[in-house]
Amino acid sequence: MIKRVRSWLNQENSQQTHQLSPDNIPEHVAIIMDGNGRWAKRRGMPRIVGHQNGMKAVKRTAIAANDLGIKVLTMYAFSTENWTRPKDEVDFLMKLPQEFLAIELEELIEKNVQVRMMGHPEDLPSHTLSAMEEAVAKTAGNNGLILNFALNYGSRKEITESVKTLGQEVRDGILRPEDITEELISQRLLTGELPDPDLLIRTSGELRLSNFMLWQLAYSELWFTDVYWPEFTKDHLVEAIANYQQRTRRYGGLS
Ligand code: FPP
Repeated sequence: MIKRVRSWLNQENSQQTHQLSPDNIPEHVAIIMDGNGRWAKRRGMPRIVGHQNGMKAVKRTAIAANDLGIKVLTMYAFSTENWTRPKDEVDFLMKLPQEFLAIELEELIEKNVQVRMMGHPEDLPSHTLSAMEEAVAKTAGNNGLILNFALNYGSRKEITESVKTLGQEVRDGILRPEDITEELISQRLLTGELPDPDLLIRTSGELRLSNFMLWQLAYSELWFTDVYWPEFTKDHLVEAIANYQQRTRRYGGLS
């Protein structure tokens, strides 16, 4: 894999790409894709045009992540709070996964990508859920990039549900309270066996987590950019990773 990444890096002309060390590519990158609405508004267009262009950035970024040898890319596509937006916008956002997959699934399969979904499926419209489930099933045998869509995802709800599950297991006598460890809590979250994100990217200049992966981001490196999500390109991903590679991760210890 390192050899493949090295050869891809060599083909790239951007100065920044050359600066990347193929031995220190983050295993899991999580992205809060923000700024679709502002991007559209700035151009005098309706917000949904921003989301439509945001979908193109999803494709660019997934392909770039795959080429770079990132193992997991988690993308915050719809939060448990986004239902409060106007119905037209919610309906549009709920159609995007099936549109995206209708256009891109073939190429994702070819590139060995595994599509996953992380969120609460019960509230999703059936057309959204069935498109996602089909993509997950069709790519389940692949072993390349895990492209993990956070869809109807909210971290506090996720943590609450995992606490309920553990409580039930204690009540059923499967677990004792003293058996509950950080690892066990991690396993009961929607990320399951996935590694915690090494790097979190948020676009559009907002500096907050917005109920995204609150447990899993405990020791992640954070990178914020003013760029609106529809403008995000491979170069921005490379810039974020170059910045990540300059950090010393201490996990509360000393370097
Ligand atoms: C935040 O920008 C973005 C969203 C709530 C939706 C993100 C969705 C996509 C990028 C497309 C998803 C595509 C697939 C394939 C699932 P915002 O609308 O809050 O922007 P604003 O802060 O400028 O208003």
